[in-house]
Amino acid sequence: MTSRETNLAFLERLMSLECQDATYPVAPEANPLVFESASGSVIRDVEGREYVDLCAGFGALALGHNHPVVREVFARLSSGAFASTVPPIVHGMGDVYPSRAKVELIEELRSLMPERLCRVSLSISGGQAVEVALKTAMLSTGHAGFISFKDGYHGVDLGVLPVTSRRDFKDPFKKYLGERVAIELPYGCGEELLADAIETLKSSPCGFAGIIAEPVQGRGGVINPPANWLAMIAGLAHKSGGVLILDEILTGLGRRGKWTEAESVDADLVCFGKALGGGMPLSACVGTEKVMSAWPKSTGEAIHTGTFFGHPLSCAIAAASLREMKRIDICAMARETGAWLYEQLRIKFAGDPTVEEIRWGGGLMIAIKFNESAGPAPGAVAMDRLRAHGIIALASGAGGTSLSLTPALVIPRDLLTCAIESFQTFRAQRN
Ligand SMILES: Cc1ncc(COP(=O)(O)O)c(C=O)c1O
Repeated sequence: MTSRETNLAFLERLMSLECQDATYPVAPEANPLVFESASGSVIRDVEGREYVDLCAGFGALALGHNHPVVREVFARLSSGAFASTVPPIVHGMGDVYPSRAKVELIEELRSLMPERLCRVSLSISGGQAVEVALKTAMLSTGHAGFISFKDGYHGVDLGVLPVTSRRDFKDPFKKYLGERVAIELPYGCGEELLADAIETLKSSPCGFAGIIAEPVQGRGGVINPPANWLAMIAGLAHKSGGVLILDEILTGLGRRGKWTEAESVDADLVCFGKALGGGMPLSACVGTEKVMSAWPKSTGEAIHTGTFFGHPLSCAIAAASLREMKRIDICAMARETGAWLYEQLRIKFAGDPTVEEIRWGGGLMIAIKFNESAGPAPGAVAMDRLRAHGIIALASGAGGTSLSLTPALVIPRDLLTCAIESFQTFRAQRN
């Protein structure tokens, strides 16, 4: 390893070129980390050090890094027997000339949805899928006003920024965001408050288009809504002439031990990303015939399109991942491993004066919520320190108050046991 090839040296090279909003500057003593390779739930850095990955690419890698089914698709499309006789389509012109892979992926995704969610629109990122959902709600209701929730996260593209809660993400652009299109209410708030906000929107120039919510808030620090709350907001949205959008970018496709919350909640539109792509950038907005038919029929040029929508390689990997996830019953795995991990963490952190609670969003969606005695941004501090103990986890919650764990849904328990032991070492050193 040359002096140009340490974690720190790579970071410094990046910092000299990348937008300063992007590179995360980490001092040498805070164990900088630059990824080199990965397999399953283990990542290696450029210095050859190994880490247990409790984050899985912001929750995207349901099957972990480089799962054999994903590698098989890469191999088949690059150097396998198939490629030597039939060169792969690497760019299929999405909505003009689709690829076979796009057709197969959409059928695969549809097969996991409740009957009524029968129309799919593909994009690349989670924020873009939410954008499709908002546009669909606007087209189908003729209105543009939404109700969103405190600590909700729906991406940072300009179209979705009004419904994302974080002020620090929005304020620098608020002059551009223009008139008020979203009313933000407390997550889990009562029916009366919601009804009042809907009336306010109805009497505003925007009107009321719908409600957007995460089934469990992820980036907000794994916050569960009260029982039956999602069904209540669905009913209220419909009674008031609007739609319900469930943002399942993080929660969907197995993370919470089910394919979608829309199995039990009457949502009109559901957004998927992260786990959908099997590691590739791919997202989807899935909706009912009724709302999706508000889009005009394409006459050769779609009014919502993108150069890389329906990218064949992403679609092929996504379809193979979904098939494998179904085959191994990944939802049951997430439920079982999640329940076990939650219990282990509750036992290990019982009596820790700095831990307020262990939050469980179902499946493998867990956060350790620290209290004020843990000092400023305790989740962010824990995230930095845990790197030295070979663990990758992610700070969450307003002000970095929590530490989120969203590992691969297939993570073996012995790796989790190792990680829990490292947590204890970390805790012992901190106290
Ligand atoms: C619930 C939710 N919605 C939307 C997004 C945005 O997805 P992306 O970063 O792919 O645009 C995220 C990302 O974390 C998310 O958790």
